[in-house]
Formats: sequence, structure tokens, C-alpha cells
Amino acid sequence: MPENPIGPSLTVAQGADLLAHGRLVAFPTETVYGLGARADDDRAVAAIFQAKGRPADHPLIVHVLDEQGAQDFAAELPPVALRLMKAFWPGPLTVIVPRRPGVATASAGGQDSIGLRCPSHPVARELLWLARERGVSGVAAPSANRFGRVSPTTAQHVRDEFGDAVAVLDGGACAVGIESAIVDCTRSVPVLLRPGTIGAAAIESAAGQRLGLVRADSPRASGTLESHYAPLARVRTVPLQEIGSRLQALLQRPGPAPQCVALYSTTGLDCSGAAPVVWRPMPQTPEELARDLFAALRDLDAAVQSRGGGEIWVQAIPEGAAWDGVRDRLVRACA
Ligand code: TXA
Ligand code: MG
Repeated sequence: MPENPIGPSLTVAQGADLLAHGRLVAFPTETVYGLGARADDDRAVAAIFQAKGRPADHPLIVHVLDEQGAQDFAAELPPVALRLMKAFWPGPLTVIVPRRPGVATASAGGQDSIGLRCPSHPVARELLWLARERGVSGVAAPSANRFGRVSPTTAQHVRDEFGDAVAVLDGGACAVGIESAIVDCTRSVPVLLRPGTIGAAAIESAAGQRLGLVRADSPRASGTLESHYAPLARVRTVPLQEIGSRLQALLQRPGPAPQCVALYSTTGLDCSGAAPVVWRPMPQTPEELARDLFAALRDLDAAVQSRGGGEIWVQAIPEGAAWDGVRDRLVRACA
């Protein structure tokens, strides 16, 4: 056991050692940072739920190196799951498949299915590789944030969530920026439980099947709770053409000075003077917006809190399937 290697200099091998010994390690993936524990150790996994404040019946995703790793946790890999794995692994897609009985019970949160994901981030892959060498074939990891809060896309975000209590591997800013798409492959038709950056059309094409609708008895996914990804400040979306007039109305309102408005929009407005407006430019493409969104929500929230409160206004995003992933996160941040 390495001597408390928690700190900025944690190496991937030390991270793998910690995992093998049942300790928690936060690590980068291409989507968001995960808070990992060996998936086959119910006590180690319990520490994840405790650190996050997450209800124990919310299942975690198990991260594996490859299809062979997936087989250790799956009772079977349905053909549609295999097709999706071949098309998108390693990458930001999670498949829900029947769970091998008796395996990763705590990770699965009591479900008889298991979520499996093969990340592409080089640090995650090295960690999974070195963990496998140490007898760990899967790493259970939810996003490394407290339950209901904004997912972390940098190592600093993870430190902001957990302080020194959790060892963090620093792999830079996440390239994708929102969590993986989750496809339930345990039914007669695949169901998209959580949209990501891989679109529904691409999933249907690789699956060779149309996606079914989410049903009331679909397995629960905490990322699908109505309110999630929530900053402390209230978040609302405002159509671009209304931002100016609504700010004017707010500023001209009689009474005490309005609270801070933190604005996330593609074009800045001239709000100089006394206006307590903070602006962060919003990227123009869905890919860039996904990459920036969670960091933006964190930064704008900090700006609002440091000014004594207020609201975050996010420019309404375009219609269209390419925006499904970011739209989903925004709707929940506003709820
Ligand atoms: O991109 C990602 O998926 C990130 C990175 C770290 O890999 N992980 C992530 O984990 O977003 P988490 O725990 O924040 O979200 C996982 C989602 C949850 O909504 C959970 O309920 C759902 O996956 N999930 C996991 N296993 C499941 C199962 N067996 N059935 C249904 N939903 C499941
Ligand atoms: Mg999460």
C-alpha cells in the first residue's frame, strides 16, 4: 500500500494500487471525471455512495477496458449491445445489459442489470489496464460530484467537490464534457435512457434497430431525475432576442438594486455601468457547448454566489437532434 499518495502528484500506478486496495480514486474520462472504486468490492463501492451522498439504490456505471472486461460483469451480451460496443467503444456510450448473478451487487444498486462503459481517455485506459494487472476487472464510477450537483470536467472541479478526501488523477479538461449516452439493451428494443453526444440516429444505425420509448418501468437513472446538474443559483433559459429587454426591465425596476445576473450567451450585451451582469461567451456548436457547459455553470454560479446571490441566464439553444445532449442537461439544471 503506497503511503497516502493523495495529492497533485498521484501517478496512475498509485491510483491502480489504491483501487486494488479498495480505496476511492477520481479519474478523468473523455466525458466527465468519475469517482471510482473496484466494482467487485461492495464495501469500496459503498464508500462512493457515501462520499457522493447518493441513494444506495441508484446504480453506478462499471468501467471496463474492453469486451472481455464486460463479459466479467454481464450474464450475456445481447446482440444489440455487442453492435453498439463494436461501433462506439472505446467512447462515450454506456450499455445496460443483464448482470452476471452475484457480481458487482452494490455497483448495480440492486438492479439485475449492469451499466458498462469503456472510456477512451488515455489516463482512464491506463488506469483500467494497471488495475486489471492488479486483479481488478472493472471500476464502478459515477460522476465525481455530490449527488444532484454539476458534473466535474477538470481535476480542480473534483477537488472543489471533495477537498483532500479523495485522490484525484489529473488528466486535463474533459474533451466531451457531458456524460455518456446510456442505452438499455435488456429489452426487445434498445432504449436511450440518457442522451449524450452520440446521437439517437447514430445509435439506431449502429444497432440496426429503432430506439424504443422510455417507459415508466425503465430502470432508474439518476441523470434522468427531473432536477439534476443543479448549481446553487437558479438557472433559467432565455431566448437570445429577449435577453436585452429582460435585463433592461430588471435593471429599471424600482426598489433595491437587482441581484447579479450571470449571462451565458453567444453574444455579449452592453451592460456596462452599474448593471450587476456577468457575461460568459457561449460556444456556437453543440460539441463545443457540451465541452464548456458544466465548467460554465460552475463558474457562473461562483460569480453569482460571490456577489451575494442572483440568477444564471442561459441563452435558449437551437432545436434539433444535435443539441439533445446539452438540452437534456440544461432542462435538468433549470428544474
Ligand atoms: O460519462 C459517464 O457516464 C460518466 C463517466 C464518469 O463515465 N459516469 C456517469 O455516472 O455519468 P453517473 O453515476 O453519474 O450516472 C450513471 C447513470 C445513472 O443515471 C444511473 O442510474 C445509470 O447510469 N445506470 C447505471 N447502471 C444502470 C442500470 N443497471 N440500469 C439503469 N440505469 C443505470
Ligand atoms: Mg452524475
